[in-house]
Amino acid sequence: MSSLAKNYNRRKISFKSGKGSYLFATNGKKYLDFVQGIAVNSLGHSNPGLINAIYTQSKKVWHVSNSFIIPEGEKLAKRLTKKTFADCVIFQNSGTEATEAAIKVARRYFYSIGKPKKNRILCIKNSFHGRTIAAIYASGSKKMTEGFGPKVPGFDHIEFRNFKPRFPNLRGKIKKNTAAIMVETVMGEGGIKSIPDKCLKYLRKICNEKKILLILDEVQCGIGRSGDFFAFEKSKVKPDIVPIAKGIGGGFPIGAVLMTKKVSKGMTPGSHGSTFGGNPLAMSVGNAVLDHIFKKGFLKNIKKLSNYFHSELNKIQKEFPKIIKEVRGVGYLIGLQLFFDQTKFIQKLMDNKLLTIRAAENVVRILPPLNVRKKEIDQAIKIIKKVCKEIK
Ligand SMILES: Cc1ncc(COP(=O)(O)O)c(C=O)c1O
Repeated sequence: MSSLAKNYNRRKISFKSGKGSYLFATNGKKYLDFVQGIAVNSLGHSNPGLINAIYTQSKKVWHVSNSFIIPEGEKLAKRLTKKTFADCVIFQNSGTEATEAAIKVARRYFYSIGKPKKNRILCIKNSFHGRTIAAIYASGSKKMTEGFGPKVPGFDHIEFRNFKPRFPNLRGKIKKNTAAIMVETVMGEGGIKSIPDKCLKYLRKICNEKKILLILDEVQCGIGRSGDFFAFEKSKVKPDIVPIAKGIGGGFPIGAVLMTKKVSKGMTPGSHGSTFGGNPLAMSVGNAVLDHIFKKGFLKNIKKLSNYFHSELNKIQKEFPKIIKEVRGVGYLIGLQLFFDQTKFIQKLMDNKLLTIRAAENVVRILPPLNVRKKEIDQAIKIIKKVCKEIK
């Protein structure tokens, strides 16, 4: 009998070790892991570079507090800002802390320019920004907020299905006291739904017009998963604030909020903080992750191989049009939307030694490590095809 609370519906399996794209279970079986801790292990399991980083740093110093200069964090922030829209960074420990920090940065910016009442955040209904008390109300999802009242005020919502390049009611949703629009560039938990580039451009235009901020949550789709460092890059849109987490730590808990110099104005000493956020151990791992992701050709290879993966999955969809409704997503953030509940399909994939995970709207979510090999993709394709045949 487990002494853990029952807030997770856990599968009846555990693992003793992992290597690259594979997990070795205590039942003696070897699984192709296309969950990777839900888009966290960007470089797979037991990556030698990450092991070396954590081992080397652990012998020097683990934790010192943000009351002191942390050179490893200075280095990681410098590398992140050099490669992106951002001018500065605040480190956190998780995705939800990063999205909360993003909301705080936006509100504090308006406070700092003498507009403290400009504090409402406009989000997509049934999106996902994490599980803290504010983040669940940002999501606007009944399932996540039920029983956790009183309601946290300050959030308004728009429907994703209305999210078309020039949908008429967006302007109406922006009130005098709206501070920011916050959306996931690709909705992960919500069913792997990408916001079209045209729509992102339109959001930017409206934000400029209304002088409000654009927050793009890249906790799940960022750090190379889309084939670009950030999923919004191909739209050429420049956000004001971007929360990240998951992939940047490669399995070590790191979150961060990236922002422009302009909006960082309110983040004066003492305005925000975190005991663990940005400690030397975490920062060394983050730097080791970037050593790989920033390597010449790394992102290009993700694009090339993930295009192949998508095209093979689309072939399977055409072969089984009564099972798979749609192949969704970008890069290695892939969703197979089924015509029926996905539980049995995911179980059958697992029986065939491929691990995947669910998302909303009957979606089977496929999240290989970013350094997955072609032969591992081929293995997954074979298993998915076999399961489609079995389930027919
Ligand atoms: C887009 C997005 N934002 C925020 C979060 C919350 O991250 P965490 O679970 O690390 O708090 C998630 C987690 O899945 C996410 O996908």
